Amino acid sequence: MKNSQRPVVVFDSGLGGISVLKKLIATMPNESFVYYGDSANAPYGPRAPHEICRLTVEGVARLDSLQPKAIVIACNTATAAAQDALEHAYPHIPVIGIEPAVRRAVQENPGGRILSLATAGTLASARYQRQLQEIAASEQVVSIAAPGIVNYVEDGMRDREGVVAYLRRLFAPWQPARFDGVVLGCTHFPFASAEIQEALGGPVRFYEQSDTVARETRRRLAEAGTASEDDNGGGVTIMNSANEKTMLSFSWQLFSTMSGCV
Ligand code: DGL
Repeated sequence: MKNSQRPVVVFDSGLGGISVLKKLIATMPNESFVYYGDSANAPYGPRAPHEICRLTVEGVARLDSLQPKAIVIACNTATAAAQDALEHAYPHIPVIGIEPAVRRAVQENPGGRILSLATAGTLASARYQRQLQEIAASEQVVSIAAPGIVNYVEDGMRDREGVVAYLRRLFAPWQPARFDGVVLGCTHFPFASAEIQEALGGPVRFYEQSDTVARETRRRLAEAGTASEDDNGGGVTIMNSANEKTMLSFSWQLFSTMSGCV
């Protein structure tokens, strides 16, 4: 199969990775992308690491017949639990993961307060804890698990008032919440950035990593010599393990509007 025909597989526990997919396409318009959301098993966040790892490896393996040229784990939780296993399973292609942008947020706000929102799985992971340890002023960082945002997005973002009330309760112990930067450490969260901002009660500066992931994917494809040079190539397919019409149509809706994204 020609390199231009081999897709880049983009994997997430559900719909969140669509926020990364859009940046990947903008950065590499000649590539073909196959997005796979494992909504049947979402949320991953509250699950045990070995279970997240198994679900991720099994989910990606469902696309093996497409002969992917790269795998993008568009999920912070799955990256923390399964990037090593995927690199082991696919030694000949790039495997690119995503991690919360805590380091960048702290560097750009010296002495400031940073709110880091992610899943429980990501926050408890060795990778996240290592990142915090490496940051000189980690006491600046308030880390909070926000599984309610994942459910809100997976449920079609219908109960906006409900999620804002949930976030207000979540942030209440830190009120008045003055944060200089807010890390969106879960790929579902950019879809709810407006709701997060409303619950925090004012404009905030968001940090997320999809641009970095897109640039890194482009670099790794060039390095591997598998980047598509076909100007007429490119395209996107969206698949979902929940296999429900509504899930796919909401995926396309998120893809085309990207409303509320940072
Ligand atoms: N979108 C995922 C992330 O970036 C996790 C959501 C979930 O399934 O809990 O962490």
